[in-house]
Amino acid sequence: MTERSLVLVKPDGFARGLVGEVLRRIEAKGYVLVALGLVTPTRDQLAAHYVEHQGKPFYDSLVEFMSSGPVAAVVIEGDRCIEGFRALAGATDATKALPGTIRGDLGRDWGQGPQENIVHGSDSTESAEREIGIWFPDLKS
Ligand code: RTP
Ligand code: MG
Repeated sequence: MTERSLVLVKPDGFARGLVGEVLRRIEAKGYVLVALGLVTPTRDQLAAHYVEHQGKPFYDSLVEFMSSGPVAAVVIEGDRCIEGFRALAGATDATKALPGTIRGDLGRDWGQGPQENIVHGSDSTESAEREIGIWFPDLKS
C-alpha cells in the first residue's frame, strides 16, 4: 500500500548545504516528492512534533537546535516509504550510522549538545499522518 512520510532536513543539514543531496537520494530511491517547503520551526511546532520526547534529558537542547535555523520539510510518497526512508537515513547516532546512509555518509559528532544528524523521518504510519498535519496543514490526501 502506498504511503507518505514526513522528512525534515534539520538545521545542520540546511546550514551545510545538504538539502539537494538529501532530495537527490530520495528521488534516486524512487520516492516521489509531494510537498516541499523551507521554514524556521517555532517552539510550538517542535513541541507538537516531538511530543513523544517531552521530559527526556535531551528534549530542551533538541528544541533549541531544531529552532536554530531553517529546515526543509518534505512529504514523500511511495510503497513502504516510511521504512525505506528510515533505512536511507541510517542510525540516529551519526558516528555509528553505516556508510551508504545519509547520516553515515554526511553526519558526524560535533561534541556536546543534541545529536545533529541531518534528517528526520517519520517512524510509523500514525506518526507520519500526525507529523504531516503539523508541517503541511493544508495538504490534501
Ligand atoms: P528522528 O526522529 O529525528 O528521525 O530521529 P530518530 O527517530 O532516529 O531518533 P529519536 O529517538 O526519535 O530522537 C529524535 C532526535 O533527538 C535527538 N536525540 N538526541 N541522546 C541524545 O543526545 C539524543 N537522543 C535523540 C536526535 O537529533 C534524534 O534524531
Ligand atoms: Mg524519531
